[in-house]
Amino acid sequence: MARTAATFVCQACGAVAPKWAGRCDACGGWNTLAEEAPAAPVSGGGGLAHPRGRPSRLVGLKGTGAVRARIETGIGELDRVAGGGFVPNSGVLVGGDPGIGKSTLLLQALASLADRGERVIYVTGEEAIDQVGLRAERLGLADSPVLLAAETSVPDILATLAEGPVPAMVVIDSIQTLWSPVIEAAPGTVSQLRAGTEALLRFAKTKGSTVLFVGHVTKEGQIAGPKVIEHMVDTVLYFEGDRGHAFRILRAVKNRFGPTDEIGVFEMSDRGLLEVANPSRLFTAGCEDHGPGSAVFAGVEGTRPLLMEIQALVAASSLGTPRRAVVGFDPNRLAMLLAVLEARGGVRIGAQDVYLNVAGGLKVREPAADLAAAAALISSLTGRALPADAVFFGEIALSGAVRAVGQTEQRLKEAARLGLGQAVIAAGHAAPYPGFTVLKEIADIAELTAWISALA
Ligand code: TYD
Ligand code: MG
Repeated sequence: MARTAATFVCQACGAVAPKWAGRCDACGGWNTLAEEAPAAPVSGGGGLAHPRGRPSRLVGLKGTGAVRARIETGIGELDRVAGGGFVPNSGVLVGGDPGIGKSTLLLQALASLADRGERVIYVTGEEAIDQVGLRAERLGLADSPVLLAAETSVPDILATLAEGPVPAMVVIDSIQTLWSPVIEAAPGTVSQLRAGTEALLRFAKTKGSTVLFVGHVTKEGQIAGPKVIEHMVDTVLYFEGDRGHAFRILRAVKNRFGPTDEIGVFEMSDRGLLEVANPSRLFTAGCEDHGPGSAVFAGVEGTRPLLMEIQALVAASSLGTPRRAVVGFDPNRLAMLLAVLEARGGVRIGAQDVYLNVAGGLKVREPAADLAAAAALISSLTGRALPADAVFFGEIALSGAVRAVGQTEQRLKEAARLGLGQAVIAAGHAAPYPGFTVLKEIADIAELTAWISALA
């Protein structure tokens, strides 16, 4: 029998190398390779809950109970991001920076399910039972019949889960504390993460539970991060936000049972995470009486339109190389916009310090925000305030032309709903929408500059 040699596994990306090196070939991480013994072969048929060697008929599945209804936690924002509730027999990864609120959100979700009579289990490897109890008390959930287990060993967790009726939902907090005695590697290594997740996923797939895995995002590769198990689970949600702000965004980045790019907005309060039902209002609060340098962008996140305020400050620079700083905006995109403004719009902005900020700690990813960012920049430079009830959207090409973007009607609808009745958009693409006036159709950046300069 061939000797199974130990291998070196990158703790950041999971790549396997036959020998040690200072730098991982796959992801370029330094000092991330660690020696791991090969995993013992997994015995037993495992797998899905149908008789071995006999395929099921797709057409016959409907109505047989094989396709089961989704479980809704009752936290609307969470259910929507998951694709309209969670699917039984599935594994969900909830990733995010430490301290962002993953444990809080999932404990709230379980409590909500438990209050409606579902059997749910919260397995914590990070906190003691009474710490979880204290948190629950603080959240006002101390009376919820959530079952708690403080365990890190995978066989123990599986034994706990196997006791009594099958739980509808299980939270494993976190994957980084999972530990299987059959694997010769420390907890937090890629091998441990994979083996633990695999065993618990098998439980979900065969028994019909939804298992939610919490994964801390780690900056260094010393312990493995959630990236390593992204491909194994059915759904990947990331919880993001700025520590300085109370707002938290839950984003679906992979979903076998629903749309991706869907977001849920929460606010961290002293009683846990609250759903934000009207995020557009939140992210444009205080916009009504704004001065120069502020523009409202009508964006679309997933299926949901979202208004956000983009703020710019252009100031004379005292430095040889002027400063460019962004918060919530792509710095390369800003550099491109500044170059286009200078070259195509005749705007002298190259020697100025430029700051661009998306209010509320949001991150803008759509190129459709170009027009709003450019308008905010020109507005700050010229000292002319933009109309307070106008929204902006459109992509700016390197030629300086303003291009139309998708979902025009959805964006206009959201603006109208919030009482912003005017829009500045690409020329020739004004979709008629009741209750809405198109303030200005802009063909290119030179026209934008001329229009803003002429504002009162
Ligand atoms: P937590 O859910 O423990 O984060 P994670 O599991 O992602 O590491 O959240 C911890 C943070 O949330 C901590 O900084 C305190 C804050 N917090 C509140 O502001 N209000 C609350 O009601 C709770 C429970 C936590
Ligand atoms: Mg936690």
